[in-house]
Amino acid sequence: MEYGKLVEMAYEVMENAYVPYSKFNVGAALLTKSGKVYTGCNVECASYGATNCAERTAIFKAVSEGEREFTAIAIVSRTRDITFPCGICRQVLSEFADEMDVILAKGMEYKVYKLTELMPYAFEKSELNK
Ligand code: THU
Repeated sequence: MEYGKLVEMAYEVMENAYVPYSKFNVGAALLTKSGKVYTGCNVECASYGATNCAERTAIFKAVSEGEREFTAIAIVSRTRDITFPCGICRQVLSEFADEMDVILAKGMEYKVYKLTELMPYAFEKSELNK
């Protein structure tokens, strides 16, 4: 899939963000190896720590539908510059992809990063057996 289309889908789902506290809308569109897209927005909670980021919403939706292999994720917000994924989301993305393109958009312009570049030395499954 063309990354511009993935960015558009991230902007579309960003409108659904439930953000009464931060008013900071985020949208994500996750591309599977087979070409399917799962979208997600951030969902906040009065108990702030229970908030779920847009990226994890997309991943959890996909994994709960049986998906395990991802090739790219587009992330957008309403800020003037690109929005980088938080540390927890980088860790969760790393759980399911060694290599993945992370597409960060500002308007319809976007930059493509490698997940390994954003999350070097991630804690991995293999650590559990060392
Ligand atoms: N947020 C995301 O959805 N993704 C990120 O990677 C950064 C932060 C959300 C969480 C919260 O709802 C709001 O942005 C402000 O932190």
